[in-house]
Amino acid sequence: MDYRMLFEDITHAVQPALTDGRVAQYIPALASVDPSRFGLAIAEANPRLKTRGTGDWREPFSIQSLSKVFTLALVLAADGDALWTRVGKEPSGSPFNSLAQLEREQGIPRNPFVNAGALVVTDRLLTLTGDARGALRDFLRTESGNPRIDFDAEVAFSESRHGHRNAALAHLLADHGRLDNPVPDILDHYFWQCSLAMNCRDLARAAGFLARHGLRADATRLLTRSEAKRINAVMLIGGTYDAAGEFAHRVGLPAKSGVGGGIIAVIPGRCTVCTWGPALDRHGNSTAGITALDTLTTLTGWSIF
Ligand code: DON
Repeated sequence: MDYRMLFEDITHAVQPALTDGRVAQYIPALASVDPSRFGLAIAEANPRLKTRGTGDWREPFSIQSLSKVFTLALVLAADGDALWTRVGKEPSGSPFNSLAQLEREQGIPRNPFVNAGALVVTDRLLTLTGDARGALRDFLRTESGNPRIDFDAEVAFSESRHGHRNAALAHLLADHGRLDNPVPDILDHYFWQCSLAMNCRDLARAAGFLARHGLRADATRLLTRSEAKRINAVMLIGGTYDAAGEFAHRVGLPAKSGVGGGIIAVIPGRCTVCTWGPALDRHGNSTAGITALDTLTTLTGWSIF
């Protein structure tokens, strides 16, 4: 594979998409990010091989909902299939922060990637570890090999000040008897998890266990092969929210997006890819990231289909 040519073609293709969208506006720390930034990293499934990247691939950004993939993996590793009684595995077809859907469905979130589902997962991780946000940060440091990964306090405090809808979701979950820990504690851990600042390189490497069918970077097992398959499957049907169908149609890979502009995509057995482009479409997915991954799968033929 000629990565230099591939990166050039992708960088060219994303240019119109960089301005075809809007940077997340709900907190000042995200609203002030320059929309023209773009980065992409490819981490081989074999962690001894070199991670390649282009553009702003070493520039940290707010991981936001990308955290949901990793908290899900940590809880699934401990709870196994029992987790799926607390949270569903179906596409949402609704915005990621929908209260109406959660109420209609008696407090069982559609999947772990809508906010309500992630709150249930964080609640479980808090019970299992006593420190959900610390467990997540430590896992990301170890898997990426970067001990400097840390939270962004400004983002975390800002999330918390503007977190009325997440608070409403958490209280609705609690009212349905779906949470084990106090709502303020769960919200606090959730906001700090979302605030982690990471770059494309470290995110692609940290997600490597999904390309290795559940094996961590040191070759110990985090998830069974089926559990890794299940996370990839849920990413495919819900990782890009109510645009998951469109994303599968264009890209054909399991992927997870965040409103910081990041997308992680998995090519099982081969590699993980992380893109960053801060401008978002109306579903909350990075316009440059989708275009980059669309171009990548078209040029390489690396799709799961
Ligand atoms: O819960 C929130 O609203 C944000 N902290 C994270 C949302 C997010 O990234 C959803 N993604 N597309």
